Amino acid sequence: MRIGVLTGGGDCPGLNAVIRAVVRKGVSVYGHEFVGFRDGWRGPLEGDTVQLGIRNVRGILPRGGTILGSSRTNPMKIEGGVEKIRENLAASGVDALIAIGGEDTLGVAKQLFERDVKVVGVPKTIDNDLNATDYTFGFDTAVNIATEAIDRLHTTAESHHRALICEVMGRHAGWIALHAGMAGGANVILIPEKPFDIDRVCAYVESRFKTRYAPIVVVAEGAHPIEGQMALQAGELDSFGHVRLGGIGETLAGEIEKRTGKEARTTVLGHIQRGGTPTAFDRVLATRFGLGAIDAVHEGDFGVMVALRGTDIVRAGLDEATRELKTVPIERYREAEVFFG
Ligand code: F6P
Repeated sequence: MRIGVLTGGGDCPGLNAVIRAVVRKGVSVYGHEFVGFRDGWRGPLEGDTVQLGIRNVRGILPRGGTILGSSRTNPMKIEGGVEKIRENLAASGVDALIAIGGEDTLGVAKQLFERDVKVVGVPKTIDNDLNATDYTFGFDTAVNIATEAIDRLHTTAESHHRALICEVMGRHAGWIALHAGMAGGANVILIPEKPFDIDRVCAYVESRFKTRYAPIVVVAEGAHPIEGQMALQAGELDSFGHVRLGGIGETLAGEIEKRTGKEARTTVLGHIQRGGTPTAFDRVLATRFGLGAIDAVHEGDFGVMVALRGTDIVRAGLDEATRELKTVPIERYREAEVFFG
């Protein structure tokens, strides 16, 4: 079989580990051939391919990013997009596709499968918000990077008696904020799933200043206040209709300063959370997902996504995986709240 591989959406530590596992097992155990498509769905849309053999995947296990490149191209928004993809797959002699991506990339994979394209998905996102899998690779790396940042912010905040706000990624789901905030002993954690009360946040900040500690507020980029409490900046939309976020940390710092009279400063971790080498956990998970994906293709089990359930790699329908986002349940937030203030 000749199998196409692509990586779509925001990049994520562990993508190269998946590609390596797919190709290594696909060639050496099953005798398949591979072709890489560049930059997510743009590759099959424009017929932009790259060689993908065992030699091309040597040495990439610990490397961040993706050797195939990525983009947020949405072929469903392009006139005749599906037909172009079909033509280009046929022209490259591709029998089946492995699409490694988050909700958007896998949403496209699901629609293509419904139009008879043979595709298997691999869940990827630092946000950990994909349904049907307990964890996505990249999340553990992002949480570790954010936790280290919070640890560092504690000592400088205490030296200067400042409130420090740490803005992390997560536009619809607060998993990174919740885990990094809990691991880093944040004073307050704000997530998109639960609109925050700015008066309450300021009360937590003030109570922390009464001890010898300085407050650290961890805020997910998609967190927002209870309606009408604070003005927020509007952002641009990408081709999947997502707002480009960033700005809640700064807004929050201004509001905390105004209301408490204490100095408040913001650190936006941004793409640092997505760059660089994956943790051992993510390398292993990504490798196991890659092995699971090539098994599914080899067995002709299409329209599925590999997933982690407990410690097992299983298969879930792409429809189940993309139907709704996995957001933070309120009980998980309540656990973290015990440590606020
Ligand atoms: O989906 C992963 C993610 O890193 C989100 O946490 C974040 O909101 C978004 O991508 C940022 O995307 P971009 O790098 O395209 O601005």
